[in-house]
Amino acid sequence: MLKRQRGDGSLYGMARKTSQTRRVPAGPATPLLEARGIVKYFGAITALRDVNFHLLHGEVLGVVGDNGAGKSTLMKILSGLYAPSQGQIIFDGKPVDFSSPKDARAIGIEMVYQDFALAGNLPIFENIYLGREPGWKFLGLNIVDHAKSREMAKQHLERLKIHVKSVDQPVEELSGGQRQAVAIARSTAFDARVVIMDEPTAALAVKEVGKVLDLIRSLKDHGVSVILISHRMDDIFYVCDRVMALYHGANFAEAQLAATSRNEVIGWIMGTKGHQASLAHDRVH
Ligand SMILES: Nc1ncnc2c1ncn2[C@@H]1O[C@H](COP(=O)(O)OP(=O)(O)OP(=O)(O)O)[C@@H](O)[C@H]1O
Ligand SMILES: [Mg+2]
Repeated sequence: MLKRQRGDGSLYGMARKTSQTRRVPAGPATPLLEARGIVKYFGAITALRDVNFHLLHGEVLGVVGDNGAGKSTLMKILSGLYAPSQGQIIFDGKPVDFSSPKDARAIGIEMVYQDFALAGNLPIFENIYLGREPGWKFLGLNIVDHAKSREMAKQHLERLKIHVKSVDQPVEELSGGQRQAVAIARSTAFDARVVIMDEPTAALAVKEVGKVLDLIRSLKDHGVSVILISHRMDDIFYVCDRVMALYHGANFAEAQLAATSRNEVIGWIMGTKGHQASLAHDRVH
């Protein structure tokens, strides 16, 4: 098992990790992340009912479902923001118990938060390392090494093929797509093994959507597993390996992407299976 990488070379580290994994003849049979029997109550509301979930190494999983189906709640549980009312999370074959997102992050599960988690007035490089800046302690104070942070940010963005004018540019000057890219860069600046994205393309212009999807592919190429929640079939069918649908807080259907179709997945979102799916698709277009 490789040691966790420091902040200054995580993606490079992940690439090495992947190439080492590839030498193993058969793929790892154990899912990287798994959840069993997840139930979540919010007072009288049952948001999740006995949900099972798994994510393989290097897999991009699409999660779909109607509004209120429980997608975000499940992701918040997997990223340590909410505790499940019942059920178990298993990471790399071992049961884990998160008391905060910090715990999940410590084992490499990152949720990409959108704009609101970025500090608009701060430059790109500071946003990427915010709260986890490189530096040293001096008389009990944290001294941030800005030069190092700036350089690390540049290299990290380059690795992800994210192009910005300058890492000194304040985030508030960026377009929606660029902000999303910075949010993704932030979530992968350390040794992320699972990156969760909750509708990362929802607010983006068409041109920027493609960039975010390509970024997801780039993460996969670096051996990172990605969970993508999206209502857009184009996103799901461009980038995912597998898709699962939740309906009214429960598992509804799932399939390898190659074994399903847009019509079928749209049907799942509406709670239908089989031939009615194409009728559902006809209704929405
Ligand atoms: N913090 C909360 N407090 C109370 N109820 C909540 C909370 N978060 C979610 N819920 C409820 O749980 C259910 C699932 O919500 P969730 O946000 O997970 O759905 P979703 O699938 O992400 O929907 P959308 O596609 O609209 O984002 C909904 O009925 C919602 O109202
Ligand atoms: Mg949601």
